[in-house]
Amino acid sequence: MRAAAARAPRPLPRIVESVRALHAFADAERAAGRRIALVPTMGALHAGHLALVAEARRRADVVVVSIFVNPTQFGPKEDLSRYPRPFERDLALCGDAGVDVVFAPSPEEMYPAGSQTWVEVSELSQPLCGATRPGHFRGVATVVTKLFAAAKPHFAVFGEKDFQQLAVIRRMARDLCLDVEVVGVPTLREPDGLALSSRNVFLAPELRGEALALVRALDAAERAARGGERSRDALLALVGAELARAPRGAVDYAELRDPESLEPAPALLERPSLLALAVRFPVLGGAPGQSVRLIDNRVIPTGHAGEDAS
Ligand code: PAJ
Repeated sequence: MRAAAARAPRPLPRIVESVRALHAFADAERAAGRRIALVPTMGALHAGHLALVAEARRRADVVVVSIFVNPTQFGPKEDLSRYPRPFERDLALCGDAGVDVVFAPSPEEMYPAGSQTWVEVSELSQPLCGATRPGHFRGVATVVTKLFAAAKPHFAVFGEKDFQQLAVIRRMARDLCLDVEVVGVPTLREPDGLALSSRNVFLAPELRGEALALVRALDAAERAARGGERSRDALLALVGAELARAPRGAVDYAELRDPESLEPAPALLERPSLLALAVRFPVLGGAPGQSVRLIDNRVIPTGHAGEDAS
């Protein structure tokens, strides 16, 4: 009989806190001919983040995960101060996932005194999350540009869960002629379908069932589209009916848009279209009015009946 061997934890990744030290690391790796992948995060890591790390490891020789709760992408009334920061746990998860370096800079390191330079992807940042979070994507594009400059990666890996963010970053990398390949990874979900998110911890357990309305709405629209429904308004009516089954959810948006330009979809869908949803729920033990905003999306096929156009 084989004794069950206790699994030895992997060594913790190296922690780098300064841009200068990260430059030195990246230069040495590049000089040795090794390929670097960067996974930008705000920490509170979950299996979704680790799927990005796995993709990064498949592509590159060394993996850098950045953990930085970026203040410039939070609005004045948003959850910057209560954003979870379980750093030791994140470090252990990164170790187990085979991450080489965790880059964990201070706000002052990323935004040196007197900072006044911003990156703005003007049009893609306007609709959807941009409409209710003015300045959010400017904060994201700016910090991701800085992280690219700091880590000098060959690849940078992002989740499709934040579809608009991925579109903004792809556009930014192209527009700024950055020598980085931006890689997207499909959304990781709980067994019941809820998209994994660091913000799910704020969701009261009794609202969990209602939160599934998002994925049910995506499923309903996809099913109808696969059945041949091409009317934008008919699909959105189905989505609205599913979301209405979550009475404590307040819909921020439920829209069909072009997956690349993010322009509104035409009345009769001709191409696969992005169905993007954002719904606010009351916060677990929070003050009245405090909410947690869940987002989800799917590119739905819009071919003829039975035909998969995606
Ligand atoms: P954060 O919310 O920590 O997410 C980090 C990365 O994990 C993003 O690319 C996000 O799309 C991805 N991700 C989150 N949940 C996922 C899931 N369920 N499945 C797959 N990927 C998932 O997004 C940010 O941080 C920040 O805006 C950042 C890009 C780090 C800039 O500050």
